[in-house]
Amino acid sequence: MKKMLVLLAVIAFVATSALVAVADNGPAEIKMSLKKMGVVTFDHAAHQALDACAVCHHTDGYEKCGSCHGVDPNVIKSKDAFHKQCKNCHKEKGGPTKCKGCHIK
Ligand code: HEC
Ligand code: HEC
Ligand code: HEC
Ligand code: HEC
Repeated sequence: MKKMLVLLAVIAFVATSALVAVADNGPAEIKMSLKKMGVVTFDHAAHQALDACAVCHHTDGYEKCGSCHGVDPNVIKSKDAFHKQCKNCHKEKGGPTKCKGCHIK
């Protein structure tokens, strides 16, 4: 009986954590430190106001882009995926398109 209660408590805990994860908007600001290209500071919160989650996170989950891009050779590489997504929208809607607009030393 005691074991059963512990098990139920564990299940309840896991279920609530999963709910919290679904409601998670992620970090407000994401700093990407690169080997040679300085730091790209991505204002996630401001961008969330610009478009729907699914426009950038084209999957149901919110995994890191690099968990697929750069892992599976059939999927475009991480750097190209970022550049394509970031720059295409910036060309269309008016964000920085020059290297130094994103890559700050
Ligand atoms: C303009 C594009 C864009 C929009 C819109 C956007 N995100 Fe993101 N989000 C990103 C990028 C880029 C990252 C960083 C991913 C990485 O580090 O590989 C990220 C990271 C995250 C993370 C953290 C993932 C991790 O494991 O570190 C969560 C959670 C998340 N986003 C949720 C959301 C939710 C919820 C919305 C909608 C309310 C949203 N995002 C809208 C681009 C976007
Ligand atoms: C769960 C795996 C997965 C995650 C996580 C993921 N992608 Fe993708 N992505 C794919 C697959 C699969 C394709 C389609 C194959 C291809 O185009 O090479 C794709 C395609 C793309 C494309 C090309 C679309 C086109 O029009 O050609 C871009 C750009 C892109 N992803 C950016 C991102 C960014 C930015 C993130 C993080 C915010 C991200 N992806 C997260 C799997 C993923
Ligand atoms: C859905 C469209 C869209 C996507 C995708 C997008 N951006 Fe933007 N971004 C914008 C727009 C629009 C602006 C201009 C907002 C403004 O000036 O108020 C902007 C502005 C910026 C700025 C300048 C902010 C400032 O304070 O001047 C940076 C840096 C930036 N984006 C980085 C990124 C990066 C990095 C990515 C990819 C991970 C990305 N953006 C993806 C639409 C987008
Ligand atoms: C709209 C923003 C933006 C612009 C404009 C931009 N980049 Fe990037 N760049 C990024 C992001 C985001 C990444 C990926 C960061 C990561 O992998 O975490 C990246 C990654 C890179 C990388 C890989 C660095 C490494 O150490 O992995 C190189 C090289 C690079 N960019 C060169 C350039 C050059 C050259 C230009 C100008 C022609 C440019 N970028 C313009 C956002 C931008």
